[in-house]
Amino acid sequence: MHIDPLERRWIILTLVLMLAITGVLLGYAIAANLHPPSNVETIDSTRLHLTPEFAEDKLGVAKNPDGTLTVTMVAGRYGFYPQHVEVPVATPVTFRIASADVLHGVHVPLTNLSTMIVPGYVSEVTTLFEKTGEYPLLCNEYCGLGHDHMWSRLTVISPQ
Ligand code: CUA
Repeated sequence: MHIDPLERRWIILTLVLMLAITGVLLGYAIAANLHPPSNVETIDSTRLHLTPEFAEDKLGVAKNPDGTLTVTMVAGRYGFYPQHVEVPVATPVTFRIASADVLHGVHVPLTNLSTMIVPGYVSEVTTLFEKTGEYPLLCNEYCGLGHDHMWSRLTVISPQ
């Protein structure tokens, strides 16, 4: 089969680019410990306040018997509740977040915490914060007119 030399060059260039981009994505995903969410757990988003886990007085940080932490949060237009979460540094933290209305996302800059919060599902992410400080918990999926104002605070403190 005859392939025009110019066309051949473009085919090779395209293949090289595809491989390079795949390599960069894969390398970064491994280096930064990024992986797709694996938790598939359904919940009735219209009745979160009636569930034993996501009722208003059950939200926040809870210590597990093995020393790890679980942070239970509700995302709703336009905020994450509770609006301020405080966790110790270098401790495994599992976030369990459910949406009370529409699709939201949560992203903490400079960490690997980032996930979608799909109504009807519980989003679960386990991570570990390496540096103390104040971080914003931002919504990164457009969820309505107040989307820009949808954020909460995360404080990572040094263990006493
Ligand atoms: Cu919630 Cu954007």
